[in-house]
Amino acid sequence: YKPNSTLLGRVCLFQGDITRLGLDSIVNAANKSLLGRGGVDGAIHIGAGPKLLDECRGLNGCLTGQSKITRGYDLPAAHVIHTVGPIYSSESKEESAELLTSCYRTSLQLAVDHSLRHIAFPSISTGIYGYPIEAATRIALDEVRRFSESEVGDKLDRIVFVVWSNRDKGVYESLIPEYFPV
Ligand code: APR
Repeated sequence: YKPNSTLLGRVCLFQGDITRLGLDSIVNAANKSLLGRGGVDGAIHIGAGPKLLDECRGLNGCLTGQSKITRGYDLPAAHVIHTVGPIYSSESKEESAELLTSCYRTSLQLAVDHSLRHIAFPSISTGIYGYPIEAATRIALDEVRRFSESEVGDKLDRIVFVVWSNRDKGVYESLIPEYFPV
């Protein structure tokens, strides 16, 4: 990838709790029921309060690799984009990669469709769903770079990668310069 200061200026890395971010949207690493409770999903539901679960019940779930949007309720974020990552062990490597790419693509597209300017991603599928962190991070960075360069890319002015652990922070810090060189 070529250096592009405009694209570089739109992405950033944040270590901490995604539920604290007061942005137009945050992404939830959900499951197909959209009624999950663990990991980042649990934290988002706790932060948003019971009205989020009520809205999610009306969505009839979501397919793996797809995304659906709700309001953020008591969260500082206005919207939650729920995406369903692949369970790493239950698909082939290639299928997992395609589905994870689709999570990022459909989430970014939903944000643009709803005229949202910001989106924050947790590291989808890399917790309970077992996706290896480096491969998942490459997919996240590659898809965000590709989308940023598309004709609607300039509709998003802030794309945040949110990491929880120091190990994941290190992986993002070492790979970001490959996809967003200075
Ligand atoms: N803020 C940011 N990141 C978080 C937070 C938080 N509050 N809590 C956890 N994380 C990180 C985890 O450390 C991991 O790096 O989010 C990443 C994704 O992990 P999971 O939440 O386990 O998501 P995933 O692997 O996609 O598994 C999805 O977990 O909670 C269930 O309902 C969910 O069944 C679904 C499955």
